[in-house]
This record gives sequence, C-alpha cells and structure tokens, in this order.
Amino acid sequence: MKHLLSIEDLSLKDSLELLSLANEMRKTNLKEVKRLPALSGRLLANLFFEDSTRTRISFEIAAKRLSADVVNFSAKGSSISKGESLKDTVLTLEAMGVEAFIVRHSSSGAARTIADASWSSASVINAGDGTHEHPTQALLDSLTIRNALKDFSSTEDLQGVRVLIVGDILHSRVARSNALLLRKLGATVAFCGPSTLLPDFARHTADEIYSDLDAALEIGFDVVMMLRIQQERMNSGFTPNQVEYSERFGLTQKRFERLGKRTLIMHPGPMNRGLEIASTVADSSQSLITEQVTNGVAIRMAVLYRLLAQEGTGK
Ligand code: CP
Repeated sequence: MKHLLSIEDLSLKDSLELLSLANEMRKTNLKEVKRLPALSGRLLANLFFEDSTRTRISFEIAAKRLSADVVNFSAKGSSISKGESLKDTVLTLEAMGVEAFIVRHSSSGAARTIADASWSSASVINAGDGTHEHPTQALLDSLTIRNALKDFSSTEDLQGVRVLIVGDILHSRVARSNALLLRKLGATVAFCGPSTLLPDFARHTADEIYSDLDAALEIGFDVVMMLRIQQERMNSGFTPNQVEYSERFGLTQKRFERLGKRTLIMHPGPMNRGLEIASTVADSSQSLITEQVTNGVAIRMAVLYRLLAQEGTGK
C-alpha cells in the first residue's frame, strides 16, 4: 500500500494489522525515550489547506516519533494567496525532497488528485477531504472502541458492538469513514440526525437510521459518537436554530443520565460544548474523547510506518 485515501483502500486484514501496530506504537509512546528509528532521513510534509489542531499536530508528533523530518505547510501565509496551484505547490515541495504528503483540503478528492497524478511520485495520506473521508480518524476511533471494550470481548474485531453516530451526517467525512470501517470490523452502525442532514448515501452506509434521538437511545448502543455541527459547510437552512438543535439532537446531561453506565461517549473534535454535547458529558468518566486524541498519535505512527517503512515508495 503506497497511499491511504479511503477506508475502502483497506481490507479487513489491513485494518486489523493497523490496529495491532498502533497498540505497539502506544507502548513506545509510554517509554521514557518515545522514538523509533524507522523513518530516519525521510522527509514528510503536512499539506493543510483547511484548519486543524488534532490531525496536523498528531501527524507531526507521529512523524517525529518515527525519526522522520516533517515540514508543515498551511495555505494561510503561503504562495497559494498569490494564485499558486495545488500541482505547483506539490511540485515545489517534492523538488525540495518531500516524499510523502499528509493532505487536508476542503475539496473532496483532493488527496486522490495528488496520488493519481503523473506529476507526483509521493505517497499521499488523506487527512480529511471535504465531506468525503477522514480514514485515520476512523482508525483511531475503532482503536479507541476496541481497547475500551476489550474487557468485555475476546475478539480482535468489533463483532456485536453497536455504535450510534449523531448529528450532521451530510457534511461529515468522519461519519462516512467510521461507518465504512466499523461495519468492516463487524459492528452495527446507526446514524441519527435531522432529516435534512441525513443524505441518501446514509441509507447505504449505515445499518439503521433515526431522526429521533430519544427513540434511538432507548434502543440501546455501546457507543454514542456525537458529531460537530459544521457551520462552515452549511450553505442553506439545514438545521433549526442552535437552541432547538441542542434540545432535539444534543447529548444533554438529562439524556446522558438515561444511558447505561457502560455506554461510551465519543466525539472526534473540535467540540461545540453546550450545542451537540454538554460539557459535563464530554468531561464524564464514560467519555473517551481524550483517549481518542491519544490514540490519534499511535494510529498515525502505524499508518506512516506501514506506508513508508514497510512498503517502500514504488507507485
Ligand atoms: N478530528 C479532527 O479532524 O480534528 P481537527 O480538525 O482538529 O484535525
């Protein structure tokens, strides 16, 4: 495997191997010296055309823990403002020796454009493309669920686990990648949100669809994953006002108290505290939100290791 553009690039075996490798990387991250020599002398670029905290920084930490050199490109402050294209940006960085790009872009398919281009020989990892996919987020979420449930399950995969993903499904690359990976691993995935934010693809991507959160929660899930309302991608009246949205689709303290004590709470971040999730819920002992962030470093180490140390760079 040279690129990671979509969860569809991964077989079940690839997915399980990446989760196992990430748990090995977690062990490295607990050592006093948190560094492996695997990518010594290799040069990677974080190519971010959209804002990010978790993904960009965790890829940078992951690259450094594998001893790679990493440069951070962000569209703000670059020659993009002078009209430079994606192609010329990539060619410029490759001419300086960059051999792998970690790409976040507001356009769906941007990472694939670079991976498929005859003018680039670099490895490409999709770090979130428009409303399409965010494969490393899905991998870190599955790792988080698997590790949290390991006391209750002896299997490597997620057979029998029920996951409810709530919110802005229409604009969510996290929802799409998570549904693809969780179902590959054997979990049952349900989507819940306002009908205006439940597109046709949702009906093919999830096992169950709900537009009433209280009814969905009554049915029972092992994991409830709340999504951010993506104000930056809303260009028409998709949702009621914020107070009404929170009342109908927010994980309020009242709703949380009706869940079982074993129900795990997740959110990919960044959170709108008080809108899609109450602060008390996000900070509760059932919340895995900081664990998701910790696992982000381990998963990205595993992906970089697999693509660049195990597979070489042949296209
Ligand atoms: N979850 C996620 O992609 O967060 P960032 O936008 O901060 O990278």
